Amino acid sequence: MSPSVSELNRYLRQIRELYGDALILERTGEKRVNHHGSATGDLFEGDGEHSWEQAESLDELYERIRTCRKCPLCETRTNFVFGTGSPHAGVVLIGEAPGAEEDLQGEPFVGRAGQLLNKILGAIGFRRDEVYICNILKCRPPNNRDPLPSEVEKCEPYLHRQLDLIRPRIILALGRIAAQTLLRTTDSLTVLRAGRHSYRGIPLVVTYHPAALLRNPGWKRPTWEDVQRFRSLYDGLCAGDTV
Ligand code: URA
Ligand code: URA
Repeated sequence: MSPSVSELNRYLRQIRELYGDALILERTGEKRVNHHGSATGDLFEGDGEHSWEQAESLDELYERIRTCRKCPLCETRTNFVFGTGSPHAGVVLIGEAPGAEEDLQGEPFVGRAGQLLNKILGAIGFRRDEVYICNILKCRPPNNRDPLPSEVEKCEPYLHRQLDLIRPRIILALGRIAAQTLLRTTDSLTVLRAGRHSYRGIPLVVTYHPAALLRNPGWKRPTWEDVQRFRSLYDGLCAGDTV
């Protein structure tokens, strides 16, 4: 026998009592991937709003925010693209937002730009799995348009928590938009590449976006120079360590 409307109403009110208005039903067809790119178990139902701020590991943080609905990008995403790599990385690379391939696979920088990024990393002696790679926005903006300030405002706190948990020594910002957004500036990429910056107390270096290098191969040489400098800075920061 099917329930009456008033029974359904009472049931829904109980659910709201228990879980609040934030109860989200997962869209069907959404792929479940963790930030290592493998399938995860059952949907995490959430501990209520803001509990992600207390997450004590990247895995826990991911489980708590992967169903985020704070901005309209949740309506058009295929996957929430959290980040990938070592949770203890000394180096974090930050891009702008997932593109089409990243949205499909649930992992940042897996398209053509990502393959070039892997080569750039290799050129300075880093494997992709020993650094950490993520974006400012975790969901793909339609047609890869630039992130809106309102989207950055909602999403950047997730990046802050990731950095608090990873505690890297240095950050590489990929491209003009990522750098300008993180550093709250309208300075040109040329100016930003030449400077030394910091983000949340962490030294930050700026270079070209790998997708920009695909369009303008002439920018590869200066990128190589940027990342060599980045590697030296990183080595210098590690030099004081006791073995
Ligand atoms: N461009 C970005 O900024 N990030 C990605 O993850 C892929 C492309
Ligand atoms: N424009 C960008 O957005 N990024 C680059 O790296 C270069 C030009």
